[in-house]
Amino acid sequence: MTRRSAFAVPVFFCLIALVVLMPATARAQSSNQIAATPPMGWNSWNYFANKVDDKGVRAAADEIVASGMKDAGYVYVNIDDTWEGDRDANGVIHSNSKFPNMKALADYVHSKGLKLGIYSSPGPKTCAGYEGSLGHERQDAQTYASWGVDYLKYDLCSYIPAVMEKQAPNDPAGQMRLMMDAYVKMGKALQATGRPIVYSLCQYGWDASWEWAPQLGGNLWRTTGDITPHWDRIYAILSQQEGLEVYAGPGHWNDPDMLEVGNGRLTLPENRSHFSMWAMLAAPLLAGNDLTAMTPEIKNILTNRDVIAIDQDPLGKQASRIYSDGEVEVWTRHLSGGALAVAVLNVGGRRYSTHPFHLDLQKLGLQGPQQGKDLWAGTNITLTNGMPLELGGHDILLVRIAAPKFAP
Ligand code: GLA
Repeated sequence: MTRRSAFAVPVFFCLIALVVLMPATARAQSSNQIAATPPMGWNSWNYFANKVDDKGVRAAADEIVASGMKDAGYVYVNIDDTWEGDRDANGVIHSNSKFPNMKALADYVHSKGLKLGIYSSPGPKTCAGYEGSLGHERQDAQTYASWGVDYLKYDLCSYIPAVMEKQAPNDPAGQMRLMMDAYVKMGKALQATGRPIVYSLCQYGWDASWEWAPQLGGNLWRTTGDITPHWDRIYAILSQQEGLEVYAGPGHWNDPDMLEVGNGRLTLPENRSHFSMWAMLAAPLLAGNDLTAMTPEIKNILTNRDVIAIDQDPLGKQASRIYSDGEVEVWTRHLSGGALAVAVLNVGGRRYSTHPFHLDLQKLGLQGPQQGKDLWAGTNITLTNGMPLELGGHDILLVRIAAPKFAP
């Protein structure tokens, strides 16, 4: 969904009211019992969109195991929009003909040691025009739980025109309250099932979603509009994440949208940089490509254990952009055990030996040579102040320093 509704409002007083009025169950949902580290898995939307079906989801689950992705930490197999069928006379939602038996599919995914995710909207319709959960929140949550669903992406979509704009016309604050109510309602409904279900709020990052989404029970919340497999879009999203690091932590994560690694015409450096930066951002790592057709190079990117370990670091501290110099940016992420990840991202054209980038360690608060590991080369590297770095266009140097020496 790209349409921007005019309901931007300051959220302070809403938040105060919310914290007071919010049921304990909704708050408990955001505890770090689930999603203690950013969720990892696969989602159908970025590649298959409305073509997702039972067979494709089973194939993705098979491939997560066969490719080594499961061993590398990928768990969730998430069905996005277009699985929804009709409601029966009792209001119970059924899957459409593309998914003949959702319970059997969940059983299959579970039999592989993986978990199943699903998608809905608080509105009457989803973004793709399928049946939403409006008025059936508790019932749908119970249905999902009975199928064995482990993750719900809840996408605002038609709730804006159908409820917010209708019930609170020209009242942005009223619309905001309605939206928050809707997310709390489903959070409570999920909680009431007694099944641990990751709750993913999809609201496109409007109205400073990071400020209120954690209090509504979200384990993750979108911080942007939709991603596409284009470097400019990926970089635009990355840039919007600066400053949001204070909102993320175990059990509650910023979601700059699912991965496009292996999709479209992204170059290998672009795929590498995208994956590296999502790991630096402590973002959910939800692969969005056709796993059955991925090249060895893409598989190697998605299964790079060292990079995944950055994403999954138990401290849960999201990276900050420390400085930029023209088109090169330097980000750092503090890791458990006192380690530090440093990413040097070249957003522009190639930097050759004739005009390398010179790394300024002082700006990172570091002093003296730093022993690290280059996580893409897999080799040891010593970072020194002012050292020249050659970087291809849109490529990245990602280094983990186990014992950084900070300036006094
Ligand atoms: C919205 C979401 C996407 C996807 C589609 C499905 O656009 O932001 O991630 O879920 O809906 O219709």
